[in-house]
Amino acid sequence: MYSGSMADSHSSDLYDAVNTWGVDDEFFLKFATSATAARVLDLGCGTGRVTLAVALAGCMVTGVDPDGPRLEAARAKPKAGRVEWIVGDSTVIPADYEFDAAIMSANVAQEILDDAELARSSADIAGQLVPGGRLAFDSRDPMARGWEAWTKERSHKIVKLPEGQSQHWYQTTHVDEANGPVEFCAHEVGVDGTENIGCDTLRFRSEEQLRTMLSEAGLVVDDVFGGFAGEPVGQGIGSLVITAHKP
Ligand SMILES: C[S@@+](CC[C@H](N)C(=O)[O-])C[C@H]1O[C@@H](n2cnc3c(N)ncnc32)[C@H](O)[C@@H]1O
Repeated sequence: MYSGSMADSHSSDLYDAVNTWGVDDEFFLKFATSATAARVLDLGCGTGRVTLAVALAGCMVTGVDPDGPRLEAARAKPKAGRVEWIVGDSTVIPADYEFDAAIMSANVAQEILDDAELARSSADIAGQLVPGGRLAFDSRDPMARGWEAWTKERSHKIVKLPEGQSQHWYQTTHVDEANGPVEFCAHEVGVDGTENIGCDTLRFRSEEQLRTMLSEAGLVVDDVFGGFAGEPVGQGIGSLVITAHKP
């Protein structure tokens, strides 16, 4: 959500340039492709970074995201026709669709600020997984206080965009430790020196909250890791990496 005149396509290019392929993406790709030719739901698929990789690995993938411009950027990528893209949230997925696996990669859950909405999304996913179908998602662990690293000094990056290099960093602007919302701004200084600032809010939820939400949605939690290499909570990268299944 950048302010000013930043074009939607630039915002999506910037998102992809900042979020280059990493161990988290590898985790979700491996999770989604663990069953051959699985039907996979990628809820909150964004620009389709992971969605396309899962489809190209042979899965039938439905990518769903309420952000129309990001989905347009996904649709414009090579081989995007291998994915069914749907604009909206979990409520727009056709009722007769069934999935073997669902993913919400790169902290989608944190962008859903309202607890009731996240609970409904989880219940919708549970409703469309086949018995034995699995869900994986990540959410930053509030105990790790990741927002403290969102300063210019600690998060500054040079990113490569089609038009040249940009500087990018995050700055936390407000933290409500009692309730979880963290407000921050993403800063970009482009090749021509123009600064774009986009501000957003993320919700940090505890392991306990997420476990309760999944259980209320009818899902059984299999694992909660602290990082994408299976580290225990508190010893990884400050994430809660959660897998669950439908009984
Ligand atoms: C940080 S991006 C992650 C995108 C993608 N999963 C990835 O790995 O790059 C979070 C995405 O969650 C989406 N989102 C926000 N609210 C949502 C909701 N209620 N249901 C599904 N997706 C949502 C946003 O539009 C955004 O594209």
